[in-house]
Amino acid sequence: MTLRKKTLLKVIILGDSGVGKTSLMQQFVNNKFLHQYKATIGADFLTKEITVDNKVVTLQIWDTAGQERFQSLGVAFYRGADCCVLCYDVTNEKSLNNLTSWKDEFLVQSNVANPQDFPFIIIGNKIDIEESRKIPSLSKKLNNITNQGFGGLNYPVFETSAKDSINVEAAFEVIAKMALQQE
Ligand code: GTP
Ligand code: MG
Repeated sequence: MTLRKKTLLKVIILGDSGVGKTSLMQQFVNNKFLHQYKATIGADFLTKEITVDNKVVTLQIWDTAGQERFQSLGVAFYRGADCCVLCYDVTNEKSLNNLTSWKDEFLVQSNVANPQDFPFIIIGNKIDIEESRKIPSLSKKLNNITNQGFGGLNYPVFETSAKDSINVEAAFEVIAKMALQQE
Protein backbone atom coordinates (compact mmCIF):
# COMPACT_ATOMS: atom_id res chain seq x y z
CA MET A 1 0.00 0.00 0.00
CA THR A 2 1.29 3.42 -0.86
CA LEU A 3 0.94 6.25 1.55
CA ARG A 4 0.10 9.54 -0.09
CA LYS A 5 1.42 12.64 1.52
CA LYS A 6 -1.35 15.13 2.13
CA THR A 7 -0.62 18.76 1.57
CA LEU A 8 -1.88 21.11 4.23
CA LEU A 9 -1.79 24.77 3.34
CA LYS A 10 -2.15 27.38 6.05
CA VAL A 11 -3.92 30.53 4.91
CA ILE A 12 -4.41 33.55 7.13
CA ILE A 13 -7.11 36.14 6.51
CA LEU A 14 -6.44 39.62 7.89
CA GLY A 15 -8.26 42.93 7.63
CA ASP A 16 -10.39 45.44 9.50
CA SER A 17 -13.40 44.45 11.51
CA GLY A 18 -16.54 44.03 9.42
CA VAL A 19 -14.92 43.72 5.98
CA GLY A 20 -16.30 40.20 5.68
CA LYS A 21 -13.44 37.83 6.55
CA THR A 22 -15.67 35.37 8.39
CA SER A 23 -18.34 35.66 5.69
CA LEU A 24 -15.84 34.87 2.93
CA MET A 25 -14.60 31.81 4.77
CA GLN A 26 -18.14 30.63 5.58
CA GLN A 27 -19.27 31.10 1.99
CA PHE A 28 -16.25 29.23 0.66
CA VAL A 29 -16.29 26.35 3.16
CA ASN A 30 -19.98 25.96 4.04
CA ASN A 31 -21.85 27.86 1.31
CA LYS A 32 -23.49 29.92 4.00
CA PHE A 33 -24.04 33.64 4.47
CA LEU A 34 -25.28 35.39 7.59
CA HIS A 35 -26.64 38.94 7.40
CA GLN A 36 -26.23 39.45 11.09
CA TYR A 37 -22.83 40.68 12.20
CA LYS A 38 -21.11 38.71 14.92
CA ALA A 39 -17.58 39.85 15.67
CA THR A 40 -14.95 37.15 15.63
CA ILE A 41 -13.10 36.81 18.91
CA GLY A 42 -9.51 35.63 18.76
CA ALA A 43 -8.92 33.31 15.83
CA ASP A 44 -10.30 30.05 14.54
CA PHE A 45 -9.87 27.95 11.44
CA LEU A 46 -11.93 25.88 9.03
CA THR A 47 -10.55 23.42 6.53
CA LYS A 48 -11.60 22.54 3.02
CA GLU A 49 -10.16 20.04 0.61
CA ILE A 50 -9.82 21.22 -2.96
CA THR A 51 -8.04 20.12 -6.10
CA VAL A 52 -5.55 22.50 -7.71
CA ASP A 53 -3.22 21.63 -10.56
CA ASN A 54 -4.39 17.99 -10.27
CA LYS A 55 -3.30 17.92 -6.66
CA VAL A 56 -5.56 17.43 -3.65
CA VAL A 57 -4.74 19.98 -1.00
CA THR A 58 -6.30 20.85 2.32
CA LEU A 59 -6.71 24.54 2.91
CA GLN A 60 -6.58 25.42 6.57
CA ILE A 61 -8.12 28.87 6.63
CA TRP A 62 -7.49 30.99 9.69
CA ASP A 63 -10.10 33.61 10.34
CA THR A 64 -9.01 36.40 12.65
CA ALA A 65 -10.61 39.19 14.62
CA GLY A 66 -10.35 42.60 12.99
CA GLN A 67 -11.07 44.40 16.21
CA GLU A 68 -8.11 46.28 17.59
CA ARG A 69 -8.08 44.63 20.97
CA PHE A 70 -7.63 41.20 19.41
CA GLN A 71 -4.86 42.25 17.06
CA SER A 72 -1.95 40.63 18.85
CA LEU A 73 -2.65 36.99 18.23
CA GLY A 74 0.90 35.94 18.91
CA VAL A 75 3.71 34.38 16.97
CA ALA A 76 2.38 30.80 17.03
CA PHE A 77 -0.70 31.84 15.13
CA TYR A 78 1.20 33.27 12.17
CA ARG A 79 3.92 30.61 12.11
CA GLY A 80 3.99 28.34 9.08
CA ALA A 81 1.59 30.44 7.03
CA ASP A 82 1.69 29.63 3.31
CA CYS A 83 -0.39 32.57 2.10
CA CYS A 84 -1.83 35.75 3.61
CA VAL A 85 -5.12 37.26 2.44
CA LEU A 86 -5.48 41.01 2.99
CA CYS A 87 -9.15 41.85 2.98
CA TYR A 88 -10.94 45.19 2.60
CA ASP A 89 -14.52 46.33 2.02
CA VAL A 90 -15.15 48.22 -1.26
CA THR A 91 -17.59 50.50 0.60
CA ASN A 92 -15.01 51.45 3.23
CA GLU A 93 -11.94 53.43 2.19
CA LYS A 94 -10.26 53.17 5.57
CA SER A 95 -10.30 49.39 5.37
CA LEU A 96 -8.22 49.63 2.18
CA ASN A 97 -5.78 52.12 3.65
CA ASN A 98 -5.22 49.82 6.60
CA LEU A 99 -4.05 46.88 4.48
CA THR A 100 -0.43 48.03 4.66
CA SER A 101 -0.41 47.87 8.44
CA TRP A 102 -2.07 44.43 8.37
CA LYS A 103 0.68 43.29 6.00
CA ASP A 104 3.41 44.79 8.20
CA GLU A 105 1.87 43.19 11.28
CA PHE A 106 1.89 39.85 9.51
CA LEU A 107 5.53 40.15 8.45
CA VAL A 108 6.67 41.16 11.93
CA GLN A 109 4.79 38.36 13.65
CA SER A 110 5.34 35.55 11.15
CA ASN A 111 9.02 36.26 10.66
CA VAL A 112 8.87 34.66 7.19
CA ALA A 113 12.19 33.90 5.54
CA ASN A 114 11.70 35.98 2.38
CA PRO A 115 9.20 38.81 2.96
CA GLN A 116 9.73 40.05 -0.62
CA ASP A 117 8.56 36.74 -2.09
CA PHE A 118 5.85 35.85 0.39
CA PRO A 119 2.47 35.34 -1.33
CA PHE A 120 -0.06 37.99 -0.36
CA ILE A 121 -3.39 38.43 -2.09
CA ILE A 122 -5.86 41.28 -1.75
CA ILE A 123 -9.61 40.77 -1.62
CA GLY A 124 -12.06 43.66 -2.01
CA ASN A 125 -15.36 42.35 -0.65
CA LYS A 126 -19.03 43.46 -0.73
CA ILE A 127 -19.22 44.32 -4.44
CA ASP A 128 -22.95 43.55 -4.30
CA ILE A 129 -23.51 46.90 -2.54
CA GLU A 130 -22.97 48.94 -5.71
CA GLU A 131 -24.69 52.10 -4.40
CA SER A 132 -22.26 52.70 -1.56
CA ARG A 133 -19.07 51.61 -3.27
CA LYS A 134 -16.17 53.93 -2.38
CA ILE A 135 -13.31 52.11 -4.05
CA PRO A 136 -13.54 52.15 -7.85
CA SER A 137 -14.15 48.89 -9.61
CA LEU A 138 -11.33 46.60 -10.62
CA SER A 139 -10.63 48.08 -14.06
CA LYS A 140 -9.94 51.55 -12.66
CA LYS A 141 -8.17 50.03 -9.72
CA LEU A 142 -5.72 48.14 -11.93
CA ASN A 143 -4.83 51.50 -13.36
CA ASN A 144 -4.23 52.61 -9.80
CA ILE A 145 -1.85 49.75 -9.20
CA THR A 146 0.49 50.80 -12.00
CA ASN A 147 0.28 54.50 -11.24
CA GLN A 148 0.54 54.95 -7.51
CA GLY A 149 0.21 51.48 -6.11
CA PHE A 150 -3.01 50.04 -4.83
CA GLY A 151 -3.17 50.79 -1.14
CA GLY A 152 0.60 50.95 -1.53
CA LEU A 153 0.68 47.25 -2.33
CA ASN A 154 1.41 45.30 -5.48
CA TYR A 155 -0.40 42.01 -5.09
CA PRO A 156 -3.10 40.19 -7.04
CA VAL A 157 -6.50 41.74 -6.36
CA PHE A 158 -9.86 39.98 -6.34
CA GLU A 159 -13.22 41.62 -5.94
CA THR A 160 -15.80 39.43 -4.27
CA SER A 161 -19.21 39.23 -2.69
CA ALA A 162 -19.44 36.77 0.16
CA LYS A 163 -23.17 37.49 0.17
CA ASP A 164 -23.89 36.62 -3.46
CA SER A 165 -20.98 34.19 -3.74
CA ILE A 166 -19.25 36.13 -6.50
CA ASN A 167 -15.60 35.27 -7.17
CA VAL A 168 -15.16 33.63 -3.76
CA GLU A 169 -14.22 30.20 -5.06
CA ALA A 170 -12.00 31.69 -7.76
CA ALA A 171 -10.14 33.77 -5.19
CA PHE A 172 -9.50 30.79 -2.92
CA GLU A 173 -8.31 28.74 -5.86
CA VAL A 174 -5.67 31.36 -6.62
CA ILE A 175 -4.84 31.52 -2.92
CA ALA A 176 -4.29 27.73 -2.92
CA LYS A 177 -2.07 27.94 -5.99
CA MET A 178 0.01 30.71 -4.47
CA ALA A 179 0.27 28.83 -1.18
CA LEU A 180 1.31 25.67 -3.01
CA GLN A 181 4.23 27.50 -4.58
CA GLN A 182 5.32 28.55 -1.12
CA GLU A 183 5.41 24.96 0.18
P1 GTP B 1 -14.57 40.78 12.42
O1 GTP B 1 -14.84 39.38 12.84
O2 GTP B 1 -15.07 41.78 13.41
O3 GTP B 1 -13.14 41.03 12.11
O4 GTP B 1 -15.41 41.06 11.05
P2 GTP B 1 -15.37 40.22 9.68
O5 GTP B 1 -14.34 40.78 8.79
O6 GTP B 1 -15.29 38.76 9.98
O7 GTP B 1 -16.79 40.55 9.01
P3 GTP B 1 -18.07 39.60 8.88
O8 GTP B 1 -17.80 38.47 7.96
O9 GTP B 1 -18.54 39.26 10.24
O10 GTP B 1 -19.09 40.57 8.14
C1 GTP B 1 -19.47 41.82 8.69
C2 GTP B 1 -20.84 42.21 8.18
O11 GTP B 1 -20.80 42.43 6.79
C3 GTP B 1 -21.92 41.15 8.43
O12 GTP B 1 -23.14 41.78 8.74
C4 GTP B 1 -22.03 40.45 7.08
O13 GTP B 1 -23.33 39.93 6.85
C5 GTP B 1 -21.73 41.58 6.11
N1 GTP B 1 -21.09 41.11 4.87
C6 GTP B 1 -20.00 40.33 4.74
N2 GTP B 1 -19.70 40.10 3.46
C7 GTP B 1 -20.63 40.75 2.74
C8 GTP B 1 -20.85 40.92 1.33
O14 GTP B 1 -20.16 40.38 0.46
N3 GTP B 1 -21.91 41.69 0.97
C9 GTP B 1 -22.72 42.30 1.88
N4 GTP B 1 -23.75 43.02 1.43
N5 GTP B 1 -22.54 42.18 3.20
C10 GTP B 1 -21.50 41.41 3.63
MG1 MG C 1 -15.08 37.74 11.70
